[in-house]
Amino acid sequence: MEKIAEQKNRFAEIQVQRDSFVHLDAVRDLNRRVFGEDRLINRLDHEPLIFLTAHCNGRLAGFKIGYSLNRRVFYSAKSATDPDFRKHGIARILMDTMIRDALVLGFNELQYDTFPALYPGMLIIGFKFGFQIKSLHWNPDYGDFQVRLARRLQMREPPVREQQFRYFR
Ligand SMILES: CC(C)(COP(=O)(O)OP(=O)(O)OC[C@H]1O[C@@H](n2cnc3c(N)ncnc32)[C@H](O)[C@@H]1OP(=O)(O)O)[C@@H](O)C(=O)NCCC(=O)NCCS
Repeated sequence: MEKIAEQKNRFAEIQVQRDSFVHLDAVRDLNRRVFGEDRLINRLDHEPLIFLTAHCNGRLAGFKIGYSLNRRVFYSAKSATDPDFRKHGIARILMDTMIRDALVLGFNELQYDTFPALYPGMLIIGFKFGFQIKSLHWNPDYGDFQVRLARRLQMREPPVREQQFRYFR
């Protein structure tokens, strides 16, 4: 128990930056390392687009990118945490930021797709945030089920879990 607490405090500060396209090359590099593909998302010219990066000790630790599916529903298209920074709450902070930003933009639902056998962590995080399975189908290209998760966004989102981090725009 003590050890986990120590580890969680290893990154004195996690910074979340919005619209941080200045880090696009580093994001593309992390995307290649995590997903083994050059494609980040199909297009970056969505309006609105939420482009978030998380930084620890001056290094890119993770990213999360999303856009609107329609006037009501926002879609988280891709996210990842650098393997060196996993299990320290990076994905949680990025999810929390996207939920709040999508809400401010006027959306009342967040959705994302995930592949549970390939990336089990993202399904677990979804359940921890109160997402529910909306649909699923077998995707032969990935050799896994493609699961669509959805969650209502509430005007009164629960407070951000106690953790030291800063937002930048
Ligand atoms: C999934 C991923 C984003 C998680 O990132 P992370 O920064 O390590 O996640 P966090 O530390 O914020 O974890 C949030 C919660 O999920 C849990 N969790 C994260 N990864 C987990 C895993 N692989 N198995 C079980 N639980 C996991 C954590 O324990 C934590 O729970 P807690 O807040 O109750 O302590 C990261 O492992 C990753 O990039 N995976 C590969 C790419 C991927 O799956 N992208 C999403 C595709 S849709």
